[in-house]
Amino acid sequence: MSKARVYVTYPLGDDILALLREQCEVVMNPEERSLSPEELIENARGFDAVLTVSAGVNEEVARALASSCKIFANYGVGYNNIDVEAASKHGIYVSNTPDVLTDATADFAFALLLSAARRVVECDSYVRAGKKNWGPMNLIGAQVSGKTIGILGGGRIGKAVAKRAQGFNMRILYNDQRPNPDFEAETGGIFTDKNTLLSESDFVSVHVPLLPSTHHLIGAEELELMKTSAILINDSRGPIIDEQALVAALQGGVIAGAGLDVFESEPELAPGLAELPNVVLAPHVGSSTTEARVAMGELCARNIFAVLDGGAPVTCVNPEVGVKA
Ligand code: DGY
Repeated sequence: MSKARVYVTYPLGDDILALLREQCEVVMNPEERSLSPEELIENARGFDAVLTVSAGVNEEVARALASSCKIFANYGVGYNNIDVEAASKHGIYVSNTPDVLTDATADFAFALLLSAARRVVECDSYVRAGKKNWGPMNLIGAQVSGKTIGILGGGRIGKAVAKRAQGFNMRILYNDQRPNPDFEAETGGIFTDKNTLLSESDFVSVHVPLLPSTHHLIGAEELELMKTSAILINDSRGPIIDEQALVAALQGGVIAGAGLDVFESEPELAPGLAELPNVVLAPHVGSSTTEARVAMGELCARNIFAVLDGGAPVTCVNPEVGVKA
């Protein structure tokens, strides 16, 4: 019997390809860029499964691939790149990679927070440039320990960030659609409304999924509510923050700084952002650890194998597909 065929939309490590090849024939887009919907249709037509890495799956893609494709296995916990309703309508499962990247992403949020607060990137440039004023008033930063952190999003990653904040003896505020008793029991976090969180926090860290309701959750009005000394952290999704409004706020001293791993139009940045010294920038690497990347690949493979065996994905986003089948 011929092997099932999997199309991978972006170059991935040999370990994941080897794992997929144990059971499937694998074809990978060799170019380090996201495919357009037209290219995805062209390249993945006739394949049994598609492993999506940031590739956009819209109604047209789902319809065009539906005659063969049984799953869009997304390499990431966020799946805002996939029109899940369209996939379900065409009987295609969607899976993501929760849990396995929680610690890596929370670690990175804290790395951004510490870097922005303690001006680590400026310090690095200073030393490399051979500057010699190493006096006590040089490159003074903001203390992190004992301060208040406000976490927008009380899910897995938000909770993991709160656990790290406990180690820094921080007061923890959080906001979500509703209180999360596990969050509170495990971290001592206090549920507050969004505006209270914004106005009382020294650090605000964003950990909500990108949905129509969270698009520009932080805009000019919200930034105005924050302390002038506050630092904003985002390693969730770029469009949750109005990036132009953030640049204006950072330029105008409305808030003190930011640590950003995600942007509204990746890999482009809003004009002015890269010129600001009070921002730490990273190229969407929140979950980029060896451990997390391997585990994400393995989970994608498990999801694909489960569906090719006639079952549902292990971490399924649209279980209704199985119900309809
Ligand atoms: C995720 O898992 O959603 C990360 O942002 C990688 O895309």
